[in-house]
Amino acid sequence: MSRRDITPSIFARLERGTINMSKSKLFFGIATAVLRNTALGLASAILAANSIPSALAADAVNGKRLAERWCAACHVVALTQRQANADAPPFEEIARRPNFSEGGLATFLLDPHAKMPDMNLTRNEAGDIAAYVRTLK
Ligand code: HEC
Repeated sequence: MSRRDITPSIFARLERGTINMSKSKLFFGIATAVLRNTALGLASAILAANSIPSALAADAVNGKRLAERWCAACHVVALTQRQANADAPPFEEIARRPNFSEGGLATFLLDPHAKMPDMNLTRNEAGDIAAYVRTLK
């Protein structure tokens, strides 16, 4: 049997209903596959669109508030504050490091190490604090 023979015979059997998959099921299958792809595409488009504004919208004022609340016990977080813990670098010093980057600090804050307690900051909070530290540069 050549390939040419197989295809028409499948269609003939579909017509007669001897193959389990009906035309409507076939149509449904294709339609769901198309919809699923569209939904996936939409979802990733929305995710991509959302991540851009949230990165741009890092809120340094909120970051300062968070830093005063969560970091000031150990770090000098504002220029008016006196030294808190000799081991912890003041935020101004962190901001002035040549390799300082807002994104790098935000990432560090999501996964701190060494003598730093894990403060379970959300991604937005970490971004806001990093944006605040940047203003001290
Ligand atoms: C319990 C004290 C404590 C608290 C609270 C704390 N830190 Fe720290 N942090 C430290 C110490 C101590 C170091 C120095 C660690 C070292 O030298 O290994 C440090 C280091 C750092 C560093 C520098 C890391 C590096 O690469 O040198 C950053 C940035 C930092 N902290 C940010 C923060 C932020 C932001 C907060 C608040 C959300 C915070 N810390 C809260 C104690 C603290």
